[in-house]
Amino acid sequence: MEKKTFKAKKRTDYKSPDFTVTNIDLTFELDDTKTKVTTVAHYVRLTQDKKASLVLDGEELVLKSVKVDGVGAKYKEHDNKLEISSVPDEFDLYIENEINPTANTSLMGLYKSDGAFCTQCEPEGFRRITYFLDRSDVLAKYRVKIVGPEYGCGVLLSNGNLIEQGKIKNRPFAVWEDPFPKPSYLFALVAGTFDIVEDTFKTKSGRNVDLKLYVDRGAALRGQFAMQCIKESMKWDEDRFNLEYDLDNFKVVAVDFFNFGAMENKSLNVFNSVYVMVDPDTATDTAFYNVQSVIGHEYFHNYTGDRVTLRDWFELSLKESLTVFRDQEFSSDCANRALTRLHAINVIRSSQFAEDASPMAHPVRPEQVMEMNNFYTVTIYDKGAEVIRMIHTLIGEEKFKKALSYYLEKYDGQAVTIEDFLVCMEEKGEIDLTQFRRWYTQAGTPNVDAKWHYDRENSKLVLKLSQHTNPTPDQSEKQPFFMPIRISFLDKDGHEVRPKELSFKDYIVLNESEQEYTFTLSENVLPVLLCDFSAPIKLNAPYTTENLQHMMSFSADPFIKVDSAVNMQKQYVHENIKNLKNGAAVTDPIELISSYRQLLSTVDENTDLILLNETMKIQSVSSLMETFDHIEIDQLSAARTMLVNKIACALEKEFKNLYSKVRASSANYSVDNMGRRSVNNSALHMIVTALCFKNEHSKASDLVMNHYKNSNNMTDKLQALTDATHFDLACKSAIHDDFEKRYSNNALAFDNFFRANATVESYKAIDNVKALMKHPSYDGNNPNRVRALVGALALSNPVALNDISGDGYRLLCSEVKRLNSINASVAARILTPMLSFSRFDSQRESMIRQELKNLMALPNLSKSIYEKVDAALKER
Ligand code: BES
Ligand code: ZN
Repeated sequence: MEKKTFKAKKRTDYKSPDFTVTNIDLTFELDDTKTKVTTVAHYVRLTQDKKASLVLDGEELVLKSVKVDGVGAKYKEHDNKLEISSVPDEFDLYIENEINPTANTSLMGLYKSDGAFCTQCEPEGFRRITYFLDRSDVLAKYRVKIVGPEYGCGVLLSNGNLIEQGKIKNRPFAVWEDPFPKPSYLFALVAGTFDIVEDTFKTKSGRNVDLKLYVDRGAALRGQFAMQCIKESMKWDEDRFNLEYDLDNFKVVAVDFFNFGAMENKSLNVFNSVYVMVDPDTATDTAFYNVQSVIGHEYFHNYTGDRVTLRDWFELSLKESLTVFRDQEFSSDCANRALTRLHAINVIRSSQFAEDASPMAHPVRPEQVMEMNNFYTVTIYDKGAEVIRMIHTLIGEEKFKKALSYYLEKYDGQAVTIEDFLVCMEEKGEIDLTQFRRWYTQAGTPNVDAKWHYDRENSKLVLKLSQHTNPTPDQSEKQPFFMPIRISFLDKDGHEVRPKELSFKDYIVLNESEQEYTFTLSENVLPVLLCDFSAPIKLNAPYTTENLQHMMSFSADPFIKVDSAVNMQKQYVHENIKNLKNGAAVTDPIELISSYRQLLSTVDENTDLILLNETMKIQSVSSLMETFDHIEIDQLSAARTMLVNKIACALEKEFKNLYSKVRASSANYSVDNMGRRSVNNSALHMIVTALCFKNEHSKASDLVMNHYKNSNNMTDKLQALTDATHFDLACKSAIHDDFEKRYSNNALAFDNFFRANATVESYKAIDNVKALMKHPSYDGNNPNRVRALVGALALSNPVALNDISGDGYRLLCSEVKRLNSINASVAARILTPMLSFSRFDSQRESMIRQELKNLMALPNLSKSIYEKVDAALKER
């Protein structure tokens, strides 16, 4: 067998470019299979080395002509490079090449999404359009002429301002000019027929910005909410960070074929239609909430990413984590702070901690990368955002705002590094971040142990903290991190008390392996640690069940409240996995039940329903998994199911009461309605759970059928569909039939059907997925369909994926194999959970290893999959 030779790039090998491009003039003559691309770019030599030849990147291009200053040039084409030697210090380079958008299933570069042409260039897609210095530190001004296809076309869009349009020999054309220099990854082109939602936004200095949202024909109504979100984002960035939009137009296009969520191309954001198209009939409240956050995210990149960009891809977190932090603050201010925070924390604890414990563990600023597409990770995005949040905690809102403005002004129009950002934070934040920088260089999750006792003689509470981080495959030794631990104190009546040591701030700093803190307090005061999850760590504190109940009832911090309930759930699951293994009797979650009963008995019109729902939620199998080093999936799932059953049965009356009492006021999305529906649907789920446990399936079925029939929105319909499917109720086929009739022609709505079937917590899910891959509405080339079906099995159904038969692994890998040559980036993403085989028993481990070895033997194995599988098989 031929040995694969892919080489990783190292961060420290960065070299500034030998040449830069000041201006580029692009002409596209669009055609489904033979699009002609003509480029004239002005190159300038940057190095002293006059002999250095110009080396450009290019992939899948058919090269037609190369001219330097109008004269045919000598060049070599090899290994996805175009090398032109002996070029002058400054010159115009003319390149003509052809590309095939229809054959492009990778969805990087120029491709066709249904009928429309569109592009995705981040991180390295521009090289699939033409030969170029496709790196983020080459910033040029773009002028783009688009000539529509011969069969005609609705709109022709690119970045910046429209400066000319008309017809050439019956073909429409448009010319766009972007006044802001930008790296190639921010280039975009869209051409197709759309409906347009139009609006305007008046900026704080009084300029009118023309807003246009391009959606599928006939779907303009489903774009209204996204348009509101654009205006809200623009307003929020002015109010919170004093950032005003910098062009006279802003365009968003929704497309159906897209590898990711959305993309921040300068003034022409391209979105996966999932994050634009919503109405109450076809999209859940969660979908609405996500639209707001993703619209915000891409818009906020206009400053953090576009105006100030990246030196190279190792610095990805510079733009992504800062922008995630910004979109989280936007959702906090404009939707709901507690919900936003709790979601973010859940991503860290269920996905990011898993990544830290996996063979692909990497620091927020990685040291080596083979395929950049593999590094759009929860570590770089979400852990990175927690790191930014820690800086915010340490220096406070005012200094953070000053430092951010300073950074954006100082580096406007430049390609910079995380280090440059940190220096600004240090300067304006008046803080030394030397040790703090370890968050960017060390992978892994710190474990923090807490202990405390009361020193009566001196009336002090003595707190001891210690930290330890396990080795990761890339690093064996870990130095202590610098982290803020937010802390509060509750007395025995549940009142918050503040020791004099904490009069000016609400956190302590942990920066050594072991540290001791003393607080002047009276006896019997409980320290509440890690309020608001102030650092992305695993805290191990000796709270008793009574302590947890106390914090759940009295802490004012939403995270602490919810986490206390979560900790009781975890304690129960851990304890009963042991009982299951030892053949001992399963216990009752008495304290949890009494705390929940207490909580439910006080629900009235003033109750924060979102918080109530989050507190009552039973942790998913995935987040419970992250509390174990070694995973025993069947026992874990059984113990969790037992917990749900016991709570549901004990509180059935309370849930019935809640179900009839809490209702949304209309089908429309609002944060209030979302809270009401979430409580109502959770109550339904618990009642159904109780009835099924008591073998009263027909009652459960009637209830679910009624819920479905009476619903006027997708959130409620999906709850009924999911419960009917997961509990295999008699009403299932009626609901399935109706759902198919109503929604099988609306792909986004119908993805809910795929997901509901793929997340049944048993072997059944594997059969469901196999059957639904043949469904007429399924399309194995569309990333959204793949993610909703096979992706849901892989990423949201650990029980079925890890079924002891091995069929889950085989199904996933056969899809990965198929996708390897169609869309490697989607393939590599859904493969992720199979890399962590060493956390499972030897039987599962050897089945997974075998599947991974089979992938390794593929003759056309992609770099994306090679990098991950190689990392996994190399371990131990
Ligand atoms: N810049 C990314 C888009 C992207 C992702 C490009 C992966 C290349 C590879 C964009 O700003 C982004 O981060 N999108 C997220 C959604 C966001 C709300 C976190 C995405 O696409 O998942
Ligand atoms: Zn982003």
